[in-house]
Amino acid sequence: MFDLKDKVAVITGGGGVLGGNIATHLASQGVKVAILDIRPENVNEKVIRLNSNGGTAKGFVSNVLDMQILEKTRDEILKTWGRIDILINAAGGNLPGATLTEEQTIFDMKMDDYQKVTDLNLNGTVFPSLVFAKAMADAGSGSIINISSMATYSAITRVMGYSVAKTGVNIFTQWLAMEMATKFNEKIRVNAIAPGFFIGDQNRAVLINPDGSYTERSKKVIARTPMKRFGDIDELNGAVHFLCSNAASFITGVILPVDGGFSSFSGV
Ligand SMILES: NC(=O)c1ccc[n+]([C@@H]2O[C@H](COP(=O)([O-])OP(=O)(O)OC[C@H]3O[C@@H](n4cnc5c(N)ncnc54)[C@H](O)[C@@H]3O)[C@@H](O)[C@H]2O)c1
Repeated sequence: MFDLKDKVAVITGGGGVLGGNIATHLASQGVKVAILDIRPENVNEKVIRLNSNGGTAKGFVSNVLDMQILEKTRDEILKTWGRIDILINAAGGNLPGATLTEEQTIFDMKMDDYQKVTDLNLNGTVFPSLVFAKAMADAGSGSIINISSMATYSAITRVMGYSVAKTGVNIFTQWLAMEMATKFNEKIRVNAIAPGFFIGDQNRAVLINPDGSYTERSKKVIARTPMKRFGDIDELNGAVHFLCSNAASFITGVILPVDGGFSSFSGV
């Protein structure tokens, strides 16, 4: 039921922290992994590491915001491995200019950065989904997993653009799930995971002080997390594996929180 051996997975942002870690897990399960990332150095480093640890990986320097490059990438992957079973949309993240400081208000938002963040997180999920879902529609099966966020359940201060974009990812997940099952094949499933708080490059500066202690923001996160800790990045792999596998054959359109209970707790 949970076997993923010999499946082919495309991971956008596969050279990054989350996507890279998911790639390592899937490769360890015998999945052939296509690492798609805009940064050639991220692609190369990840592919070398996966292959030298016994996995099967290929790298593709590509841009999730460019449909033409994505289509070319899809065709190359199909030529290499003949199929695409899994798409993980892990390219995304926040930008410092789109994050308000404690002192700023929404009227101080740098609109260029706001647009970049909404574009990367929303269209950077929509565009690859359309391109790779086409291969799944032709084959009659597939599993797409998007990365949502805790910033979509209720407002989190400072990160307005990111929150708006990730909330768009939620409805797009539900929308594409409906579209694929009703018009193509129920075996094409579309789901999302919503990671809680994991210390990563994107949020380290706002959660950890230079001396290693927790910031005031961190303390608020922990106070609202019933498990009273941050997540370990490996703890996302179980949810991703499950949603990719036949064990989730009747599950489509869900946004699964992996958050130590954060989204379920009012804090009171
Ligand atoms: N780290 C966390 O705690 C956390 C929590 C919730 C959600 N997320 C989400 O998980 C996803 C991955 O986050 P991460 O921490 O691994 O970030 P990361 O910055 O480590 O990785 C993102 C990767 O995407 C690549 N990328 C950026 N723009 C691209 C483009 N246009 N085309 C192709 N590749 C592009 C980058 O080169 C990078 O390798 C993001 O959507 C992020 O918002 C992360």
